[in-house]
Amino acid sequence: MIRNQWYAVLDSKEVKKGRLLGVTRLSERMVFWRDQNNKIVCLADRCVHRGAAISAGCLKGEHAMCPFHGFEYDSTGRVKLIPANGRSTPVPENMHVHSFPTAERHGMIYIWWGDDCAELPPVPGFADIDEKFPYVTTVHHWPVHYSRAVENQLDLVHVPFVHADTIGRGFHTLVNGPLQRVSDDGHQIEFWVYNEVDKGQLPKKANQLPPPDSNIQHIHFVFPNIWQNWILPKFRVFVAFVPIDEENTRIYLRTLQRFVTVPILREVVDFANMKFGTKVLNQDRRVVLTQIPKKTALQMDEKLIAGDLPIVTYRRLRDEMQKASTDPI
Ligand code: FES
Ligand SMILES: [Fe+2]
Repeated sequence: MIRNQWYAVLDSKEVKKGRLLGVTRLSERMVFWRDQNNKIVCLADRCVHRGAAISAGCLKGEHAMCPFHGFEYDSTGRVKLIPANGRSTPVPENMHVHSFPTAERHGMIYIWWGDDCAELPPVPGFADIDEKFPYVTTVHHWPVHYSRAVENQLDLVHVPFVHADTIGRGFHTLVNGPLQRVSDDGHQIEFWVYNEVDKGQLPKKANQLPPPDSNIQHIHFVFPNIWQNWILPKFRVFVAFVPIDEENTRIYLRTLQRFVTVPILREVVDFANMKFGTKVLNQDRRVVLTQIPKKTALQMDEKLIAGDLPIVTYRRLRDEMQKASTDPI
């Protein structure tokens, strides 16, 4: 996992007012709740006293109370009350757990996983998906490192094989290009699919393809863990690849559409889109779960080909970010 990044970790709907939610993300146990201003709070879910999960307790006003001996935590992770010491005894300064900076953007909850910083970089997202773009979500569990799940969605070569009866119809096995664009900060990769039927021709080079155009269908990945398939201005597929630990990923799959707005019709269209999206994702799942090892790296025992360019780019950028961060790979 790359440190010092904003990670999408939960759907906004999963954290309900008045309730504690305990989950594992980035191999750490975390507890979430909403404060009185509806702002998301995220603390390390390990009581300083004797290690119980704070999330197994409850909210008492604005404080989370550990179920074991009743220690109460505020939203900054400070213990505010030790019942056994009495209300009148001050709480020692060292009684606190880590508090993760949080943000919400377009129905996803993000946490800053890294060092304390006076000024944090902007929360990742897609500039052309605003808060009003409606969506439906399904959630999937994949027992793989999130790098495998990400790379699957950057893989141009697999489409006619894995998705022969869905998005890969027509046996377009020849991979032209690939044509890709990396943002100046190295945090975003966009690429365009120009696969075609192999009639014996050689694949075209990227400079023989039309120039990059964000207004036609393309794939867009933003580090560390969100992705969209830009299909039409009013139709997208969004995925958040949420790392649970080194061997498990939670995938939030969304279809977003705003071309059908009539309520009942839109439910039918959303349902059909979700069914189709889930079918496509499960086609991927079946194969990705067989990949060895579960986690990828820039240098590893795989023989990549020209069509794998977006995967190579992802690995290279990820490697650079990992080296720049303090986290050992
Ligand atoms: S372990 Fe949490 S209060 Fe004792
Ligand atoms: Fe796929």
